[in-house]
Amino acid sequence: MDTIGVLTSGGDAPGMNTALRGVVRAAAAYGKTVVGVERGYQGLIDGALRPLGPRDMSGAINRGGTMLRSARCEAFMHAEGRATAARTLAEAGIEGLIVIGGDGSYRGAADLVAEHGVPCIGVPGTIDNDIGGTDYTIGYDTALNTAIDAIDHIRDTADSHDRLFFVEVMGRGSGYLAMMCGVAGGAEAILLPERPMPIEDLIAHLRKGRDAGKASAIVVVAEGNVTGGALEVARQVSESSEFTDSRVAIVGHLQRGGIPTAFDRVLASRLGAAAVEALLDGESGMMVGVSGKEVVRAPLKVAWETRTRFPESLFDLVKLLSS
Ligand code: F6P
Repeated sequence: MDTIGVLTSGGDAPGMNTALRGVVRAAAAYGKTVVGVERGYQGLIDGALRPLGPRDMSGAINRGGTMLRSARCEAFMHAEGRATAARTLAEAGIEGLIVIGGDGSYRGAADLVAEHGVPCIGVPGTIDNDIGGTDYTIGYDTALNTAIDAIDHIRDTADSHDRLFFVEVMGRGSGYLAMMCGVAGGAEAILLPERPMPIEDLIAHLRKGRDAGKASAIVVVAEGNVTGGALEVARQVSESSEFTDSRVAIVGHLQRGGIPTAFDRVLASRLGAAAVEALLDGESGMMVGVSGKEVVRAPLKVAWETRTRFPESLFDLVKLLSS
């Protein structure tokens, strides 16, 4: 294999550029050429390719976002779109593809392997940290720290005004990030997509805290919380209880940008290089990840079949420590 393609797909995540650097520099060190694909799978359909050499990666290690840009590509979900993509790869002489993204991106890669025999390797890049096959995804640690910074700021004003705040963090389908934000941010409660908490229970919990002398409170709400986002939860709480003067803060896409943390840079550097090595070893339809301290490989489908969940015991911990 002489020429390797690389793309970033789905929601951008801090550290994607670091992973690109890992891919490009490792490939160059092994004497291989790298072609970057713009805007994820859309670039394969449009033929938007550009060569990436080691010097193109100068300054990439600490730059947020993705220099290749990213997209969620509807056309690639159809066989016709994937056939066009496979033609683009063949015409450009790209013999293997590295896909940096989350489980949705991996599903596309698995289809490309199955239908067109294109060797593909996945690198986990998503702030959600919700896919199997790896303990951590690139971008999660940075997003967590950004959200914690926001929560710390909010706590200052919550304390100053004896206020109840609902802070919404990202996670449409996964509460992993929200759970860790809640634990690290010292939240009074955490509302998630995975485990519904009736509003009455939340109110009872807040009342208990207030009766125990807590003048302010922070409730972390995941974007995909079953009973709605932070605005909706605040509305329901204020309508049906004595907690009528709450405030809402939505951290939103702030969590997706920014300089990757050292943790994410190390992870992205290791996994970018590991993806190249996997391709050169003749692997296909696999992802790279970390397990403990080691880099590991797993079939792409492990990403969506064994989604990473937070330990359930964290619910009890939050209850214990917010008393
Ligand atoms: O998958 C990453 C993520 O940031 C989720 O946490 C969030 O729900 C989603 O992407 C938002 O996507 P978009 O930027 O397309 O609104």
